[in-house]
Amino acid sequence: MAVTRTFSIIKPDATRRNQTGAVTKMLEEAGLRVVASKRIQLSKEQAEGFYAVHKDRPFYGELCNFMTSGPVVVQVLEGEDAVKRNRDIMGATNPADAAPGTIRKELAESIEANSVHGSDSEENAATEIAFFFNDDEIVG
Ligand code: PPS
Repeated sequence: MAVTRTFSIIKPDATRRNQTGAVTKMLEEAGLRVVASKRIQLSKEQAEGFYAVHKDRPFYGELCNFMTSGPVVVQVLEGEDAVKRNRDIMGATNPADAAPGTIRKELAESIEANSVHGSDSEENAATEIAFFFNDDEIVG
């Protein structure tokens, strides 16, 4: 299986509850390596741009407000089949539906405050990584 990269965000509900380390530990134990990481405050423009694909969905405004409500940690993760590996350890979007042992089941609060974002394809991962990181900020 090829070593690939994916993009992750530790969301404001998790940073607020001081769970950056807890989330990262679960990612690392799932076989992913953090090859870039920074804690930032998203601007409204950044959140709206990042989530533009969802702009026609009813929760778009709330999602953008939530993602700017506190610091986030943006990360590049590397590992075998990284996109799927990350989606598996994240669990279902709604924590109520997530499997035991997943980040969202163990740590998240609600469908909005669901602690983590992860790219859903390698193509989107490349776009999302480039949205936040220059090549020289990623050290594998
Ligand atoms: S996913 O993960 O993309 O397959 O999930 P999806 O259901 O398509 O949701 C896309 C993102 O929107 C968030 N979301 C919501 N936010 C606020 N309120 C409601 N009701 C809601 N439903 C979904 C969900 O957490 C996804 O955010 P990201 O950051 O992409 O994980």
